Amino acid sequence: MYKSIKSAAVLSVAILSLGACNQTSKSNQQKMTDSTSLQAKIPDSSGFTQTIDGKQTHLFTLKNKNGVEAAITNFGGRLVSLLVPDKNGKMVDVVEGLSSIDGYKKAGSSYFGALIGRYGNRIAKGKFTLEGKEYTLFKNNGPNTLHGGKVGYDEVVWDAKQIDSTTLQLTYLSKDMEEGFPGNLNIKVVYHLGDDNGLNISYEATTDKTTVVNLTNHAYYNLNGAGSGTILNHSVQILADNYTPVDSTLIPTGKIEPVKGTPFDYTKPATIGSRIGDANEQLKNGKGYDHNFVFNKHTDTTAVVKVVGDKSGIEMDIYTEEPGIQFYSGNFMAGANTMKYGNKDDHRTAFAMETQHFPDSPNQPNFPSTELKPGKVYKTSTEYKFSVVK
Ligand code: GLA
Repeated sequence: MYKSIKSAAVLSVAILSLGACNQTSKSNQQKMTDSTSLQAKIPDSSGFTQTIDGKQTHLFTLKNKNGVEAAITNFGGRLVSLLVPDKNGKMVDVVEGLSSIDGYKKAGSSYFGALIGRYGNRIAKGKFTLEGKEYTLFKNNGPNTLHGGKVGYDEVVWDAKQIDSTTLQLTYLSKDMEEGFPGNLNIKVVYHLGDDNGLNISYEATTDKTTVVNLTNHAYYNLNGAGSGTILNHSVQILADNYTPVDSTLIPTGKIEPVKGTPFDYTKPATIGSRIGDANEQLKNGKGYDHNFVFNKHTDTTAVVKVVGDKSGIEMDIYTEEPGIQFYSGNFMAGANTMKYGNKDDHRTAFAMETQHFPDSPNQPNFPSTELKPGKVYKTSTEYKFSVVK
């Protein structure tokens, strides 16, 4: 009974605010944007049903016993939506995304929600040497290769198998010399939604020739709700005493430097906006935060990153086996795309936390190795766990 009264009230508020929006004053339009989380919902699957290169694409939905839902498409293995409860128990979609594959294709270079490979982040000058042989890649990011090259794993169709209501398995064979990388790489990625409100992404790969591998997921989060505006008031904590500074093309200089005394010190919680505007050469190079943080020694049971949405109270904790994370504050978002809730992907309205080995490792001998040899198994997992702070 209480529930139905409550939902009737919510509905009438929604109708009232829609009515107000018809008068199109700017502040009312703003109100409508802020209320989008009231209608958090998974996009219609019709925008995701296509045949691409002879393969079928779909939108798959996972749901746990608390009603938390994740939607994933096998086009690029993309996380499209993630509905979690806020501090009032209302479901909020914390993943910024689009409502169709065509939308994702148009927004290609933003990598919304995608699985990234064969090599996540940058490889300097599109070149690296392995076992004495030089390999040349497509340069899709100024002088460098970013996120796998011209057609990364974000734009291929993965083979999908829904294992059960909370588990989706995606597989892909990345052929020898695809995008210039050696070795047939057999990849398996499993998305699993736990009853502890954690979305676990586990990655496995094997090769028949020595290669380099660095897989990640490039979801953009807004913990106040996709389409709800700036992320600058989100609070962030990253258990990293060090980071890898970059040159003006975002290639690491090779140094691992302390964050202490810099705007990169997130060892204690601070808002994203508190220092993003500081006069700092590294922030200038990244046009904000677009840097790899080097985690302190940790296990996969330590929450190495905590982010809290200031309005929703939603906390996202990240657990990972990876040694680093690319914290990207949405600096290149420029309002060019119309997103799921009708909003634009405006500057810094979402952020990415890409767990990874460090950028350009194939050319940086002092970074942890990203080489994978035949007979070995690449295996890593990351969990994004959701709770609320009141
Ligand atoms: C990564 C990169 C950024 C940017 C985004 C996508 O996070 O590090 O520089 O290219 O992807 O826009």
